[in-house]
Amino acid sequence: MPRDGLTIGAIAARTGLAVSAIRYYEDQGLITPWRNAGGQRRFDRGDLRRLSFVMIAQQCGFTLPQIKAELDRLPKSRTPTKADWARIGAKFRGAIEQRVTQLTLLRDRLDGCIGCGCLSLKACRLYNPEDRVAEEGAGPRLAMADRRSKTL
Ligand code: FES
Repeated sequence: MPRDGLTIGAIAARTGLAVSAIRYYEDQGLITPWRNAGGQRRFDRGDLRRLSFVMIAQQCGFTLPQIKAELDRLPKSRTPTKADWARIGAKFRGAIEQRVTQLTLLRDRLDGCIGCGCLSLKACRLYNPEDRVAEEGAGPRLAMADRRSKTL
């Protein structure tokens, strides 16, 4: 029985992706078309699910190499199942939580810079993330201390 398959145009229509994007994902090894008896490239229906996974993972902020690494853990012909997605989703969630924590810290450090503008390589908490004088308050504490000592 001949193998059924989808054209790249059908994949584009179903996923909303541009043909060029699908080719790029193919070049990155995220999906692998095969050739029918006439030598035309065809995609499996499971590639729709793989591409959905790619788009969702990209929305979550993951790079194509990271996404490929997850897909490569699955058997070649298999798409992510509900159980796979639960496992991978939990892993993605942990990575997103970590980024939220980092961004919250960055936002809080930026709050201390708003209105300051010193951009000091020694004192600014954005440049100096291990800020050893953070407990003294926001702003360029070392510069402020230096200024205070000169005025005293
Ligand atoms: S601009 Fe960051 S502490 Fe002054």
